[in-house]
Amino acid sequence: MLFQVLFLFALPIIINAATVTFPPTVGLGTSDVQYTSSASSFDALKISNVNSTTYEWYYFDAISDDGSYSAVATFFIAPNTAFPFTGSPTMTLEVLLSIQTPDSDVFYLNGVFATDAQVTTDGDGASGIWEGTGLSFNSSSDMSSYDIVIDSADLMGVTGTISMQSIAPAHYPCSAAQAGATMQLLPNVGWANAVPDSRATVQLEINGQNVSFTGSGYHDMNWGDIPFLDAVGTWHWGHGRLGPYSLVWFDGTSQDGSPHTSGYVSLNGAIVGSQCSGVNVTATSSGFDIGIDLGEEGVVQAQFSTDHTLLSFQDVYFRWSGSLVGGISGGEQYTGSAMFDEFDFTNS
Ligand SMILES: *[C@@H]1O[C@H](CO)[C@@H](O)[C@H](O)[C@H]1NC(C)=O
Ligand SMILES: *[C@@H]1O[C@H](CO)[C@@H](O)[C@H](O)[C@H]1NC(C)=O
Ligand SMILES: *[C@@H]1O[C@H](CO)[C@@H](O)[C@H](O)[C@H]1NC(C)=O
Ligand SMILES: *[C@@H]1O[C@H](CO)[C@@H](O)[C@H](O)[C@H]1NC(C)=O
Repeated sequence: MLFQVLFLFALPIIINAATVTFPPTVGLGTSDVQYTSSASSFDALKISNVNSTTYEWYYFDAISDDGSYSAVATFFIAPNTAFPFTGSPTMTLEVLLSIQTPDSDVFYLNGVFATDAQVTTDGDGASGIWEGTGLSFNSSSDMSSYDIVIDSADLMGVTGTISMQSIAPAHYPCSAAQAGATMQLLPNVGWANAVPDSRATVQLEINGQNVSFTGSGYHDMNWGDIPFLDAVGTWHWGHGRLGPYSLVWFDGTSQDGSPHTSGYVSLNGAIVGSQCSGVNVTATSSGFDIGIDLGEEGVVQAQFSTDHTLLSFQDVYFRWSGSLVGGISGGEQYTGSAMFDEFDFTNS
């Protein structure tokens, strides 16, 4: 009993103090990679030693309700031998920042490398400092709010903040946030979605020009224990808001062609579905149709339009923002905005 009391007393202190520091270069030896969830530490690191064949990243985006503005910040611990779209085989700590405005789909795009990175877990939340870049993120311990702070006037020409107040509970690929759940989106790829949707406020000054908007904010992390190209065949992921509904979808294949899906819907801050079946993402002439079957709650049908191309690499990777139209089939229809990523390695 005494032992138990001490344990309960000591545990939060240990968790609160958990800071991992990453060197700027690729780690040696094996990576210990987590794919089964714990009861807490939702947004904690899933790999504390990233080697040349493993990777992880913290991803944040925000999009205005009309889809004309967006901002994406990704904090990588990933050599390009493991994730092919980062900038170096030896330097792992890249921060990628991209900004879309009504003036330009690619108003700003820049990647810089940190000299080291520290990630601290606090409750379910996480904070990260990518030293030398001026970029960091921090959160409340319950993941209800996240701030991305950009203090990089000299290096990147950008200062300001992206702030998120969550409106949709965290989830894993096939379940809500709970202990013992699978975190594999497909074999050898992990996914934990801390903030499926939020009220986002973006206030940035970019090379002397103010870019400010409000809208929908999103945050997740991905990781893997083998190179991304060895695990993934196709990947159609996105998220968006339709009136009171927050949606997140994934429909892809692993390298052997086997299909894997995930669908998440919350309504006014409560999860209506978090599942890895009954989800379709189908290409159309103007974008993609998304279907998520919620059983008794009905079927969500939404049309995403690939209005703005924010990133593209050699026809195998695209990121789009655009409008999202739909709702529960047969019910009220809404118009909102969404972000969408496509990887297709099947022709390469
Ligand atoms: C990296 O870690 C993974 C997972 O532990 C392991 O399978 C792999 O062999 C390691 N890679 C290298 C180059 O050591
Ligand atoms: C992040 O850190 C700043 C500075 O300490 C603090 O003002 C802010 O409230 C923190 N944000 C969150 C979401 O906890
Ligand atoms: C940008 O906004 C800030 C805060 O509102 C203001 O102080 C600054 O003068 C603005 N800068 C420009 C270039 O408009
Ligand atoms: C997914 O596609 C299949 C085959 O076309 C169809 O039968 C099913 O109703 C679709 N489900 C959703 C949720 O869109």
